[in-house]
Amino acid sequence: MGIADDILSHPSAALAALAYQLDLGADETIGDTPIDRFAEAAKPAPVAMTARGLAPTPASRPGRTDADASPDPGPDPGPDPRVDPVAVARAMAEAAADLDGLRLAIQGYDLCDLKKGARNTVFADGNPGARVMIVGEAPGREEDLEGLPFVGRAGQLLDRMFAAIGLSRRSPDAQSALYITNVMPWRPPQNREPDAGEIAMMRPFLERHIELVDPVLIVVMGNTPCQALLNQKGILRLRGHWMQGLGRPVMPMTHPAYLLRTPGAKREAWADLQQIEARLKENEKV
Ligand code: URA
Repeated sequence: MGIADDILSHPSAALAALAYQLDLGADETIGDTPIDRFAEAAKPAPVAMTARGLAPTPASRPGRTDADASPDPGPDPGPDPRVDPVAVARAMAEAAADLDGLRLAIQGYDLCDLKKGARNTVFADGNPGARVMIVGEAPGREEDLEGLPFVGRAGQLLDRMFAAIGLSRRSPDAQSALYITNVMPWRPPQNREPDAGEIAMMRPFLERHIELVDPVLIVVMGNTPCQALLNQKGILRLRGHWMQGLGRPVMPMTHPAYLLRTPGAKREAWADLQQIEARLKENEKV
């Protein structure tokens, strides 16, 4: 008897094997690329060989009619080469008259494969009247579960960092409020970085998002939003320097997840926060 047979015939062995995998940190059954389970379900059931030849197909089983059998959809044809995902995103984003419309447009956009593997579309959190808009990379596990950006450990650090300069996503007062979103509204498998194609197709939505919120300044956290808004990478070089993106001041900062791994970099992050505070005070005088 092989290991697989052993596990199948002893449920306690199967449970122990599962617990062992959890101990190793394998707490999710996901692969590198998302799988469209709906498309999988539409595929015809494999034809099994029996000792007498071919096993009966579902439609030839007693009690079933040919009308029950769905037509063979054939192999997944993949993306339609005539459809330009960036142009579709741009048309949908531009048609959104307000933030609710934009949220619906993103939820209805089906050309980004990351959506297939995500539990939730993570749109934004905070006060849309805020002077400061934070743009992160993409949802992680907690954000995907809750449907809100920056709610995991990195998000808690982000909240503490901005509280230190008097800003909060919970503030009803626009002067002290934050509005938070990400370049990608869907969690990439195993938290990998979004690729250039994924960033390009979601950029029109981000641009419209910024236009609708109309913040005084934008803070980009990490490389992905730097690439999306400034067309540049190299956050350790860019951080702490005011830049222009979509006609607004943009402050690149290291991502709070990086700060959790590299506490020594918090001193520079504090200097960046102080620059943001000073810029907001300047803006009050105008
Ligand atoms: N990291 C991000 O960039 N965004 C989130 O929402 C969470 C973690």
